[in-house]
Amino acid sequence: MNTKRTKIVDLLNSGKVGEKIVVKGWVRAFRSNRFIQLNDGSTIKNIQAVVDFESFDEELLRKVTTGAALSIAGILVESQGAGQAIEVKVDTLEVLGAAHPEDVQKTVMQPKKHSLEFLREQAHLRFRTNTFSAVFRIRHAVAFAIHKYFNDQGFFYLHTPIITGSDAEGAGEMFRVTNLDALNPPLNEDGTVNYKEDFFGKSVNLTVSGQLEAELAATALGQVYTFGPTFRAENSNTSRHLAEFWMIEPEVAFNDLTENMNLTEDFLKYICQYVLDNCADDLQFLNDRDATEQQQKPQNERNELALIDRLKFVINNDFKRLTYTEAIEVLLNSSHYKKKKFKYDVKWGIDLQSEHERYLVEKEFKCPVILSDYPKEIKAFYMRQNDDQKTVAAMDVLFPGIGEIVGGSQREERMEVLKAKCKDFDIDEKELWWYLDTRKFGTVPHAGFGLGFERMIMFVTGMTNIRDVIPFPRTPQNAEF
Ligand code: 4AD
Ligand code: MG
Repeated sequence: MNTKRTKIVDLLNSGKVGEKIVVKGWVRAFRSNRFIQLNDGSTIKNIQAVVDFESFDEELLRKVTTGAALSIAGILVESQGAGQAIEVKVDTLEVLGAAHPEDVQKTVMQPKKHSLEFLREQAHLRFRTNTFSAVFRIRHAVAFAIHKYFNDQGFFYLHTPIITGSDAEGAGEMFRVTNLDALNPPLNEDGTVNYKEDFFGKSVNLTVSGQLEAELAATALGQVYTFGPTFRAENSNTSRHLAEFWMIEPEVAFNDLTENMNLTEDFLKYICQYVLDNCADDLQFLNDRDATEQQQKPQNERNELALIDRLKFVINNDFKRLTYTEAIEVLLNSSHYKKKKFKYDVKWGIDLQSEHERYLVEKEFKCPVILSDYPKEIKAFYMRQNDDQKTVAAMDVLFPGIGEIVGGSQREERMEVLKAKCKDFDIDEKELWWYLDTRKFGTVPHAGFGLGFERMIMFVTGMTNIRDVIPFPRTPQNAEF
């Protein structure tokens, strides 16, 4: 007998009545001692396997419980019941791994509605639920779409280091990497730790961005992108921050800020279209889930559009582009501001708070927004200085329900200006000699951006907490699993 298993997705798409098959998966439900709902993760859909219980050992059937793993050999038949075209008539059934009902009861596998918090505590089991299997299949599809997009556009995938000596964003929120003895580190005469004796002969950290290295490659290969893990020790316990997240950073030689915005907008639309085209079943499930969640919110906090319509909206509408200075004007003229509804004050020079960003996106423009040309003091040292001497060629993309999803800029390609910026930001030129070198040999305008992968997954799945779109979230006080 052929014992190679057929995946459920293939059975449902192209299985023929009369075909003999083997299917393996986990029991989602077993009703009337007769109908097994089996799922193998290849699709959100289950296949129904029907046992003629009179011809099976009672002892064996008792082990067919929610969560158990089965191997079933049988024949595909037309389904009598509603909801599926075909089902499996079971010939032989083997329990590969039992799941004791008393244990299952305490887990997220118990078929009933669980809170997302409870599901997070069982991150090792939440893959077994419809919601999380859908999220993680879509997460895969988006990663694939990103590689496809850049490959099709002639970009080269660049692996930038995870251990680094530089703080690209200058925010000082880095995790140190060391193998020195924590209780007894070598000391300098002044009592500070002597990192010359550390593994790399200097103090190093986990990367906060691959951008500086991507710039080096872009000024030779033309257009590159990174896609890797990124680490930030910011103590922000919000629904949009992780200590370990994934970032995609394209970098393009000869691009200016406008071309950078065009690339970003095209890229984000492509991802939305890819999910619509390739993840229909999972997306429909999450769409309905989101609709139920929205119903439970007060009227004024509900999304006007359903999840699928939100994706279509992004694809079909131009992003609203305006400068930081214009955005401040909009905020100052808003009735929201006049009625003192913002918690944080608004004036030129402030770092926009998430309440300001969300107001612009969700209340004022009701579409994705690209803000550009921020005050130079609140942005990173590498951003290109504008002629007004006050602002830099920065851009942030703000999405409804998410806030900032992309941060990018045209880079400062002029050596003298860059050196002056290093001084302003108290950055040691000697530490960044390799970065500055690119400005010495055929320097060119170039630009790039960083997309927060998990924030994008939040947008396309409708999940509202970033901890629910990464398999094992890392947040302050939490590194379980
Ligand atoms: O705006 P950021 O800090 O930009 C950079 O790191 C640049 N080097 C990018 C570039 O120009 N190449 O981060 C980029 C994006 C943010 O817009 C956000 O989506 C995401 O990364 N991000 C986070 N996502 C989850 N958790 C965090 N703690 C994040 N910090 C940033
Ligand atoms: Mg940013």
